[in-house]
Order: sequence, then structure tokens, then C-alpha cells
Amino acid sequence: MATGNLQPLQGMADLAPPEIALWHHVEEASRRVFRLYGFEEVRTPILERTAVFSRALGEGAEVVQKEMYTFEDRGGRQLSMRPEGTAGVIRYVGAAGGPEQIGGRLYYIGPMFRCERPQAGRKRQFHQLGVESIGGPSPAADAECIALQMHLLAAIGIEGCTIHLNTRGLPEDRPAVRAGLVEGLAPHREALCEDCRRRLEEHPLRVLDCKKESCRALVGTLPPVTAFMSEASRTYLVEVERLLVKMEIPVVVNPTLVRGLDYYMHTVWEVTHDALGAQDALAGGGRYRIDMEGRACDGVGFAMGIERLLMALQSTGVRADQFAQPLAAWIVTAGASAAEENLLLLQTLRQRGVSCGMDLSGRSVKAQMRAAHRAGVSRVILRGDDELARGLFVLKDMQAGTQEEIALPELLARAPSWMITVPGT
Ligand code: HAM
Repeated sequence: MATGNLQPLQGMADLAPPEIALWHHVEEASRRVFRLYGFEEVRTPILERTAVFSRALGEGAEVVQKEMYTFEDRGGRQLSMRPEGTAGVIRYVGAAGGPEQIGGRLYYIGPMFRCERPQAGRKRQFHQLGVESIGGPSPAADAECIALQMHLLAAIGIEGCTIHLNTRGLPEDRPAVRAGLVEGLAPHREALCEDCRRRLEEHPLRVLDCKKESCRALVGTLPPVTAFMSEASRTYLVEVERLLVKMEIPVVVNPTLVRGLDYYMHTVWEVTHDALGAQDALAGGGRYRIDMEGRACDGVGFAMGIERLLMALQSTGVRADQFAQPLAAWIVTAGASAAEENLLLLQTLRQRGVSCGMDLSGRSVKAQMRAAHRAGVSRVILRGDDELARGLFVLKDMQAGTQEEIALPELLARAPSWMITVPGT
């Protein structure tokens, strides 16, 4: 058992075989779907100036206040590890001269960092795959983004999700929403939990998000937030819903869905899955407006936590070994001359696209056969000095337990049929 010093930090994990096969499946399925919708990949740095996040997500956002890994570097600059992908992508769009210069359909896959209390489904280093579709308010663009997300979940093999949809309204609606919520909640202040009493002063909308039963009961007596919004905001939400119905994508309108980041306006949504327990959000997204040095950048996007996607996938019985890609063949050698010729064969087969392995440390034939078993190959190609002298190979079928002698042209002719196809790729 490894000592504590060899373990990764709390809330962080090594991603390694055999589970890594599931990660590859998710990433490959995602790239395929992103291409279908015309999205291109962007990889922004993990480390950014702290202001990139605090300005975009809002100084008051819990992620900014409590969860960022922030430090001063040797040059005295305030830097943070990215807690999410949107802020960095929009900084990139601004740096590149605006969406007109680069096209505005971008996706990303990579690690994010939040210093939260670790628990099932909540990590300090976790991985998101997400998209940002840059462009001004458009119910069709929002609906397309949700449709893309559902397509992606189906391509990965996840069923049984619920989409919760709501609106944050227009930025101009905020004072009226705030006033309406304060008016409804203030008379019941004492019945709210301690956190919500603070939220009532600082950010009343967050009271809607509280998981405590007593607060939820109070929230249930309030009119939906849309009641405090402009007609334009309400119409926008109805239009998004209508388009989703048209695309045959079922959603649940959830008037208490808030989302914890301040850049949102209009449409917000979350996707939940029963297998996830307390941390049941598989994905979250919405339409936003983020300042790019004095110029507003509008867009819509979402991000899904890959760890949570894998939890949902595994809850349906999917296992990593279903996606494993064992080598197609193993070369077993006996004798010094054959060893060298077999090294050439190994190279020839690999260059023809056939994955294969061979012991390179001069072990016994028995040990080489054990290695072939461990590698899970379906066939072994055995050539010792004796076979070399006769210009032949022994081809062993590991499943059938049969073997035959064949010459090089026949071996090379058969090799392409050994390529392995993996389900879901
Ligand atoms: P978010 O809701 O903060 O949104 O995160 C999106 C997803 O990341 C969550 O639904 C969850 O699956 C995963 N996630 C978040 N925190 C953790 C954690 N500590 N451990 C494991 N998984 C986690 C955003 O990040 C927005 N940038 C989404 C977005 C993109 N909105 C518009 N564009």
C-alpha cells in the first residue's frame, strides 16, 4: 500500500488504466458530436489572472469567494487556477479580436479546480467538457445548445436525465427581481436559515437555491421569479421552451433554478441524473453576458462534469473493460538470431497499423507467454531460431487454443484483419 506521500492531494485523482478507457470513450464521443454541430476545440491556460474569473463570474459568486485556488506568483501577480471554462474562453475570444475573427463556436475538455469539501461527485480537481456559442440573445441558439447537450449525453450512453429550465431575465430586471424577493421573504426572515438571512441582504436570488426544507417551504409560497421580470424576459423563456418542444426535447420548467454564477441572463438550465445522489447536477449551462475590457460578449453554453458523467454511466452497468483496447498480437521469440528478426517484424506490423507487443528483456518462452496472457492478446506469433531457419512462423490462436505454421506473406496478408473495433467508437 502506498504511503500518504505517494497519494495525490485530497479531492484529486490519478486517472489511469483500466478506468481511463471510459474517459477516452467520453472524450471521443464528445469530439464526434461537437464536429456534427460545427464546434472547434480551444485550449486555454489553466492559470489566469484572478480578475479574469472574479469579473466574469461576479465578485459575490461562491466559487470566487470561497473556492478558487488563488496565489501570488513570484512577480506579485494575483493568479488563480481556473474553476470553470467560460471565463477563460471569453478572455481568449477578446484577445483574438472578437468572435468575428475566430468564429464563435468553441468547445473545451480539461481540468478545473475548486477548493470544495470533497465528497462523492465533488472533487477539487475535476474535468469538464463544455461549449460556448458566441452571439447575441437568440432563443434558437439556446435551444440548439440544449439539443447538442442531449445528443452528447445519448452518444455517451447516458439515459434518464432531466433538464431543468429557467430564466435569469434581462440585466435590467434585476432590481425588480431583488425587490420582489425581498418583499416576499423579509416578513419571514426569522424562519430562514442563517445562510439565507445573509443571502437576503447580499443576493436574495440565492435563497431560491437553498436545499434546507424550511427555506424551500417558504420559497414555495413566493410567486415564480418571472412574475418580477419584464414581458420580454418571459416571452424569451416561452420561446426557448416552444423550440425545445418542436425539437422533441422534454424539459421541466423549474422556477427555483438559479445557477450560482453572475454572468447569466435569460435562459439557464441544469441536467440532473438520479444516480448521482446529493451532487445530482450532471451539467449546467445558460446564456450569459461577459465584459471583455469594456465590450460586452454574449453567448450561450454549458459544461458537464466528466467524473459525474462516468458515475451516471457506471450506474447503468457500463464497465471500463468494455472499452479496453488490448494489443492484437504478441511476438514470442527463442534464440538470439530470431530475437533480432522478430524486432523487425514487430516494427513492420506496427507500421501496418497492427498493435503488438514483444518482450525486450530476453526472458524465457514461458515468461513471454505469461506476458502475452497478461496483455490479453488474441494471438501469439512465435518464431525461434528453428522457425527462422525454415522461413516460417507459428501462429497461435489464444481463444481456440489452436496453432498453425505460416510464411511471412500469409502473415502480413492476415494481419490487417486483426485490428480491433471497440464498441461505441
Ligand atoms: P457549473 O454548474 O459550475 O457551471 O459546473 C458545470 C458542471 O461541472 C456541474 O454540473 C458538475 O457536473 C461539474 N462540477 C462542478 N463542480 C464540480 C466538482 N467540484 N467536482 C466534480 N464536478 C463538478 C459552469 O462551470 C459553467 N461554466 C457552465 C457554463 C458554460 N455556462 C455557460 N457556459
